[in-house]
Amino acid sequence: MVQARPRRSVLAVPGSSRKMIEKAKGLPADEVFLDLEDAVSPLAKAQARTEIAEALASDGWGSQIKVVRVNDWTTQWTYRDVVDVVSAAGVHVDAILLPKVVDASHVQALDLLLTQVEKDAGLEVGRIGIEAQIENAIGLTNINRIATASPRVQTLVFGPADFMASINMRTLVVGEQPEGYDTGDAYHHILMTILMAARAHGLEAIDGPYLQIRDVDAFRRAASRSAALGFDGKWVLHPTQIDAANEVFSPRQEDYDKAEMILDAYEFHTSAAGGARGAAMLGDEMIDEASAKMAQVIAAKGRAARM
Ligand code: GLV
Ligand code: MG
Repeated sequence: MVQARPRRSVLAVPGSSRKMIEKAKGLPADEVFLDLEDAVSPLAKAQARTEIAEALASDGWGSQIKVVRVNDWTTQWTYRDVVDVVSAAGVHVDAILLPKVVDASHVQALDLLLTQVEKDAGLEVGRIGIEAQIENAIGLTNINRIATASPRVQTLVFGPADFMASINMRTLVVGEQPEGYDTGDAYHHILMTILMAARAHGLEAIDGPYLQIRDVDAFRRAASRSAALGFDGKWVLHPTQIDAANEVFSPRQEDYDKAEMILDAYEFHTSAAGGARGAAMLGDEMIDEASAKMAQVIAAKGRAARM
């Protein structure tokens, strides 16, 4: 499934920095999430909720998907994050990003709380989505139950920093391969498990951050790996990473053109055969129902990216 609004670049912005939020409004990221979790110190959380609500309601936003990352359910902050921000500015919130989700109950608790706040604030019930961040072994183990815990769930998001810490992976460079492991991609199993759950349940799969923000080539390499698997987008921490993410997670022009050509040829063949489907030739290449499906994925992503 490809969403009509792409999430190729997901920009992380500290909720406590009005200056950075103002700057984010004009950046070409597909999604902006205002953070109340790890980018905000405990003493600044209450003020950040107010900043975020005011900023969301202010003018100057582009077409970005607007998301707020709340604190996880093991803290004392989650309910106030949701109540304060959604009561004050819920109409401007597209989704709540819930970190460190360990099982379906975390998603269900957020769903129930959102429903109450939406009712109380006179908002449309059920419109605000949930992005579930997978950041530890238990979350990965329960991923299918998390994905289906609520109709609000829109995306599954990899959190590599917390994930690596939770499994004792031996590295300090978030998003890079651990030193000494040179026989493959140390993230492959995690990424594939997230991707499988996302595709099985019609959700988007979003890769997490790459922390060496000055090394755009390295960001591009890391992003290309998850994009090649089929991920829909990746977090970006700095404006320099946005263009790279938008490019890497859009189909290349030649692939898009070819996909549209396959679809045209297949449709022509099908209607010429009176609606019967089957194999056809496009130049020297054989195409069939499955090639048409693959082309459909690339064409849909390409059309969404060109909107
Ligand atoms: C992001 O939250 C991460 O832990 O990588
Ligand atoms: Mg994290």
